[in-house]
Amino acid sequence: MGILIQYLLDWEFWRLYVSLFVVASALIFLRSKRIKRKLPPLQHGAPDSEECDDDSDLTPALEEKEHIPFAGATVTLPGGAKTFYELVNNRRSIRKFSLKPVPREILEYCIRAAGTSPSGAHTEPWTFCLVSSDDIKMQVRDIVEAEEFINYEQRMSKEWTCDLRPLRTNHVKDYLTTAPYLILVFKQTYGLRDDGKRKQHYYNEISTSIAVGILICALQAAGLNSLVTTPLNCGPALRLLLNRPSNEKLLVLLPVGYAADDCTVPDLKRKSLNEILVEY
Ligand SMILES: Cc1cc2nc3c(=O)[nH]c(=O)nc-3n(C[C@H](O)[C@H](O)[C@H](O)COP(=O)(O)O)c2cc1C
Repeated sequence: MGILIQYLLDWEFWRLYVSLFVVASALIFLRSKRIKRKLPPLQHGAPDSEECDDDSDLTPALEEKEHIPFAGATVTLPGGAKTFYELVNNRRSIRKFSLKPVPREILEYCIRAAGTSPSGAHTEPWTFCLVSSDDIKMQVRDIVEAEEFINYEQRMSKEWTCDLRPLRTNHVKDYLTTAPYLILVFKQTYGLRDDGKRKQHYYNEISTSIAVGILICALQAAGLNSLVTTPLNCGPALRLLLNRPSNEKLLVLLPVGYAADDCTVPDLKRKSLNEILVEY
């Protein structure tokens, strides 16, 4: 053993060790450089201004814009925040709709309102599909009910179906054919420029979700009722049905209309201010 250690500590071997160390360090350094180059750009990271200025194939989401004076909020709601709270506190998820028609113009305004939502780098990564055709509503219902049957029977955990019991929901979705309108909201996971290049859609899910929040407030302000639904596993089939491109993914599906006269809702209580507000 002693002879072996003495042998390894021999000057000849030290030269070999140093050479091996230098080669290994060089290899590690080169490899880390290559990995860095291969890494895709961060989903949410913004390129710095130098990167935007060069002639690379990076295409900015937002072109240079002039900055203009802003006069502050000039349109306000009579009664202000209190009235707004009373309005949205009156909203309930409705699962039984009347056949009473809804003027299309109202829906257009609600969707315009949704389209005012803030979005990551002003990419506006949303598409609102408004369905009034009975035939398409029936096809949507067929797709959703078939998947929801499997969801309730197999995919959802016991805990999940137990949590849903107070809502008395199941795989049968009459509202998909009785509601005068369905709005299917798609998030655009990336954008496409005229030259076919992809454009990053930062925070596309958060942006589209905020837009949906504005949409349901606008519907409520118009005296309409709605239901936010997220039919599990139905996105791809509904995207194909509506002929939406592959960069669009279904976020939510809302039946919209007026509540049926005999509509009931679970007697839910909302959290108090004390439970949701933390002050510092
Ligand atoms: C993200 C999200 C997904 C939802 N998905 C469904 C759904 O698939 N089916 C359904 O009947 N309700 C769905 N709801 C409605 C909730 O059950 C409802 O908002 C909740 O019970 C509170 O009732 P409220 O909206 O009347 O205040 C969903 C709500 C949200 C926000």
